[in-house]
Amino acid sequence: MVQGKWFAPGQPLGEVLPVREAVFGAAGPESDPLSWNCLVFWDGVPAAAGRIWWQDGAFRIGDIGVLPDYRGRGLGDLALRLLLFKAQSHAAREVRLKTPPELAGFFARLGFRAGAPEEGGAETLEMMIPGDAIDLDTCRNCPRQDCPSRK
Ligand SMILES: CC(C)(COP(=O)(O)OP(=O)(O)OC[C@H]1O[C@@H](n2cnc3c(N)ncnc32)[C@H](O)[C@@H]1OP(=O)(O)O)[C@@H](O)C(=O)NCCC(=O)NCCS
Repeated sequence: MVQGKWFAPGQPLGEVLPVREAVFGAAGPESDPLSWNCLVFWDGVPAAAGRIWWQDGAFRIGDIGVLPDYRGRGLGDLALRLLLFKAQSHAAREVRLKTPPELAGFFARLGFRAGAPEEGGAETLEMMIPGDAIDLDTCRNCPRQDCPSRK
């Protein structure tokens, strides 16, 4: 079973940090105490995490990571959708993130568009989605009409 859990800004992140450390090798950025963190469990195992915070006039998403053994099961997609839902529920005007360029396609699936490459190198790409372009309706472009999710 897949479950999601939210951690409000300032809540202890003891369940989240091991996932982040396993994926990124680092735990706590400065903006963590200001962030909403989400954690996704696969059969009770904390397997995916991500966070969203407000900074310099925009919501920022970061540290989306899935444990290597749990990739390819839709958990990264779910974590990103949870974070975008949080942005929507805060009436976000725009949401920004920085990503390695090779992951741009993962974020583009949900409408993020690439900005200019970061100064000083092409290691990081900044991507953005306007708040009113966030579309979390997975059925809209799906041709399958008899799917139980539509009922
Ligand atoms: C990127 C990452 C979060 C994806 O998680 P995941 O659970 O394996 O992805 P999902 O199974 O949810 O994939 C959802 C969809 O995205 C696609 N996708 C996954 N990785 C992709 C990539 N690098 N580029 C393009 N599409 C990608 C999948 O094919 C899938 O498409 P489908 O729905 O058409 O089948 C995971 O690979 C990861 O943790 N990477 C390392 C951490 C990292 O660099 N994070 C980004 C920092 S902001």
